[in-house]
Amino acid sequence: MKKDFLSITDLSAEEYEDILTLAARLKRQRYAGVPHPLLAGKTLAMIFEKASTRTRMSFDVGMYDLGGYALYLNAKETQLGRGETVADTARVMSRYVHGAIMRTYKHETITEFAKYASIPVINALSDKEHPCQIMADSLTLKEKFGDLDGLKIAWIGDGNNVCNSLIMASVQTGMEIAVGTPKGYEPDPAAVKFAKENGGKVTVYDDPVRAVTDAHAIYTDTWISMGEEDIKESKLKDFVGYQLDTALLNKAASDALVLHCLPAHRGEEITDEVIDSMQSGVWDQAENRLHAQKAILVRLMSLGH
Ligand code: CP
Ligand code: NVA
Repeated sequence: MKKDFLSITDLSAEEYEDILTLAARLKRQRYAGVPHPLLAGKTLAMIFEKASTRTRMSFDVGMYDLGGYALYLNAKETQLGRGETVADTARVMSRYVHGAIMRTYKHETITEFAKYASIPVINALSDKEHPCQIMADSLTLKEKFGDLDGLKIAWIGDGNNVCNSLIMASVQTGMEIAVGTPKGYEPDPAAVKFAKENGGKVTVYDDPVRAVTDAHAIYTDTWISMGEEDIKESKLKDFVGYQLDTALLNKAASDALVLHCLPAHRGEEITDEVIDSMQSGVWDQAENRLHAQKAILVRLMSLGH
């Protein structure tokens, strides 16, 4: 395996499958109360430039479950906030901890940190990608459908970081991704190109109904990602017609699973009726962050970098 998990593309199809299998085993062990201290004595730095509920908690609890220790660092309150370089910070932290996760505005901050760190580094969300989220979602889809290969997943709304990782995961999983975004909010062309050139199935429409038709799952996310607060008003206008409501849900397969990485902005990208419906998989998705990330931590931090 590569030292770092910065992009969903860092995993081969075999590694992807192996992580999901391990995640399912760790989930069963946790439910059964079977101790699994696979990272006993290991420490993880968790560096955040942005807010988080799920990512922060699931990594922290995950390290505890694995017998290790996690250290939360608000980037602004470290010397990074006063101008110490990312490279120097990476060099120093590598002397204290066995791994690091990073949530940043710019993706390049994480790649820079990883370049100078001798320890494994995990992307906990950047402006480009959210690969840990997609591993948890893949576990959720596997639990519901058994096999990812051949599933049609519709992404509705903003072609954002989560969407980019989902698109590129079509390469390892065989999932077909149908994106429905307003014009101007399409996913990163590089992600679409990567998927298409490597055997992934991706179609981008500017019509939500075409995207969701016959889909096994419909995925949406906030229209206003962290850092976009100043363009909120214009974005809200541009996304009219892209809300995941019951009428749109009914265009998908009758047992289609509703996905949302959370936090949800109820009444904007999704209605209460849909997120609280029997078809909603969002709480399983949130739970599976824990199990999937524990598997990622074990695979990366057991390597002895
Ligand atoms: N889905 C997700 O990453 O949630 P948080 O922002 O709460 O970590
Ligand atoms: N696209 C959202 C995801 C939050 C988990 C954001 O970047 O804010």
